[in-house]
Amino acid sequence: MRSVAPEPIAGQTVLVTGGAGYIGSHTVRALRAADRPVVVLDSLELGTADAVIDAPLVVGDIADEALVEQVCRDHDVGSVVHFAAYKNVGESMTDPGKYFHNNVDGTVHLVEAVLRAGVQQMVFSSSCSVYGTPPTVPVDESAPIAPESVYADTKAMIERVLRWYGMTSGLRAVSLRYFNAAGASVDSRIGEDWSYALNLIPVAMRALLLGDPPQLQVYGTDYPTPDGTCIRDYIHVDDLADAHVKSLDHLDRGGDTVEINVGTGIGSSVLEVLNAIGAVAGRPVPHELAPRRAGDPVSTYAEPSRAAEVLGWRAAHGLDEIVRTAYAWHLAQLGD
Ligand SMILES: NC(=O)c1ccc[n+]([C@@H]2O[C@H](COP(=O)([O-])OP(=O)(O)OC[C@H]3O[C@@H](n4cnc5c(N)ncnc54)[C@H](O)[C@@H]3O)[C@@H](O)[C@H]2O)c1
Repeated sequence: MRSVAPEPIAGQTVLVTGGAGYIGSHTVRALRAADRPVVVLDSLELGTADAVIDAPLVVGDIADEALVEQVCRDHDVGSVVHFAAYKNVGESMTDPGKYFHNNVDGTVHLVEAVLRAGVQQMVFSSSCSVYGTPPTVPVDESAPIAPESVYADTKAMIERVLRWYGMTSGLRAVSLRYFNAAGASVDSRIGEDWSYALNLIPVAMRALLLGDPPQLQVYGTDYPTPDGTCIRDYIHVDDLADAHVKSLDHLDRGGDTVEINVGTGIGSSVLEVLNAIGAVAGRPVPHELAPRRAGDPVSTYAEPSRAAEVLGWRAAHGLDEIVRTAYAWHLAQLGD
């Protein structure tokens, strides 16, 4: 155990790791709109410099402790919002070491470096996948942690790593368990690039706007749900961004380490999402019905009341707005 915790430097700047990626770039904008100074650290392996709006970008790796410590000192960093990670569930099962190294080990290096620079506040991108297939829905934060992939377990491990650093070193962390991030900024400036994305909405947009191939597969139509397809909780990326701003406010108030669901509390089936996209586009999304895929929970959506109680946060956008902003952004990309 560390005998003496470093004096917090109480800097004003927020270090955003992975801030050139999908959720990170929206959060950088939300932080700047809230007048918070920001510095982004991103390797640009899966993000683009163009997505970083109104904040300096340092290109580098979270595992580079010397760089991280220097960035914290140079930019007067007081807290970290930590997005940087790999997130491909399938790849995590074929190349687990890549995920343990980048997500878990990378986070340990990051935490060691920021603590040395006197930074003791962190907001972390966790995931509803830590629950695996929840025994009941809506799922609240007391549900068993039962990850069903290496990726999901990296998130559960990091939550525990952060709790241990809280006990040993005074770190306070908010782990936000995101449900399914979706949508784009209302001005269509940033969104979810379908060349990296594997999630339903960008894949559906690609099928709709680029035609055949690529084809969209609906995996499983015989689940015990009203229309037979899986149910998920789609949360607008700007709502997610807002949850990070409010999490930093919680930490600034001296708030304790906590794990929090970030979802709408409303489940939508795959076919409901495709119908919503078809309604916005004025034509149906081309798709094929396919057998169930291993490892897909039937239904998962959030019980979001802890976010309201602790952070004063609740989702402001619904599925229609998610689909409308995503469609507008993807159309704008085709026009470029
Ligand atoms: N998208 C979702 O629905 C979702 C759901 C739950 C959790 N999450 C988590 O949220 C976070 C952000 O997700 P996203 O959808 O914005 O992903 P993303 O891939 O768009 O962004 C991740 C960013 O991190 C950067 N990065 C990765 N490893 C790095 C490293 N070692 N050093 C520096 N930069 C690095 C990438 O270049 C990329 O810009 C991830 O941790 C992800 O696991 C996402």
